[in-house]
Amino acid sequence: MQTCLLLCALLVACTSARSLSARPDVEGLSYHHQQVVDEPLHPLVLEWIESRKMESKSGIRERQLPAGVDIDQVINIAKSVWNIIEGGRPTLNTSFDYATAVPSGVTEWTELEYWADPVTASYSAWVENIFKVKILELNYTVIAMPMGQYQGKGQYLTNVGIIPTIVRAPWSYTLSASTNVHGIVNVGSKDSPIAALQIDLNWGASWMFKKFTKTEAYYVRGDGKPITSLNSQK
Ligand SMILES: *[C@@H]1O[C@H](CO)[C@@H](O)[C@H](O)[C@H]1NC(C)=O
Ligand SMILES: *[C@@H]1O[C@H](CO)[C@@H](O)[C@H](O)[C@H]1NC(C)=O
Repeated sequence: MQTCLLLCALLVACTSARSLSARPDVEGLSYHHQQVVDEPLHPLVLEWIESRKMESKSGIRERQLPAGVDIDQVINIAKSVWNIIEGGRPTLNTSFDYATAVPSGVTEWTELEYWADPVTASYSAWVENIFKVKILELNYTVIAMPMGQYQGKGQYLTNVGIIPTIVRAPWSYTLSASTNVHGIVNVGSKDSPIAALQIDLNWGASWMFKKFTKTEAYYVRGDGKPITSLNSQK
């Protein structure tokens, strides 16, 4: 009888503690996020870079802008939202899952040339319990190819994405994550456009009656400046 009462009380306590992000101290779980510096790129990231290294198709030499192309207006001609982890497993499709920021009117990013080597920023995000044991862990790299030029103009972006490199969760936790690209703008001038965008990592896990969700936002620029985190908390 007493055991039953205790169990019931526990169950009520559990169900009332649904959202970890709203109340991070529930059950002593805490969220952490930090940039990883001075570490070599994960083999998965190197593999991705290798698979995305495409040559500029045309190597356009004419300087006359074709009708319908507006170098001042920067748009994404690839994906805006895609899953990178489902049911605790990475689902990234390296051939199709990426965003661009190119002139409007362009139909393939390969119409641009002089792409620079990718810029990357790696992070580790995790949730730990009161004993400082990592319950959930997600290591990932934000990546983009900058400095693409259209007819000798601008600094645009392609192959923008987030690559999950380490995904760790106990079997009873369902971890998932998606990528969302938005806020695409020209932060340069009309004649020398510089593409910029925001890319979000939305990740979370659910277990029993509980759920945890978190968004990390990053700012990426076409001129190859370092990728920066838009969230201030650690
Ligand atoms: C990636 O997606 C494309 C199009 O949906 C599909 O044809 C291809 O098989 C996928 N590749 C992988 C590795 O899942
Ligand atoms: C995730 O990245 C952090 C920082 O580099 C590292 O300390 C940790 O060991 C990584 N996780 C795993 C499981 O490799």
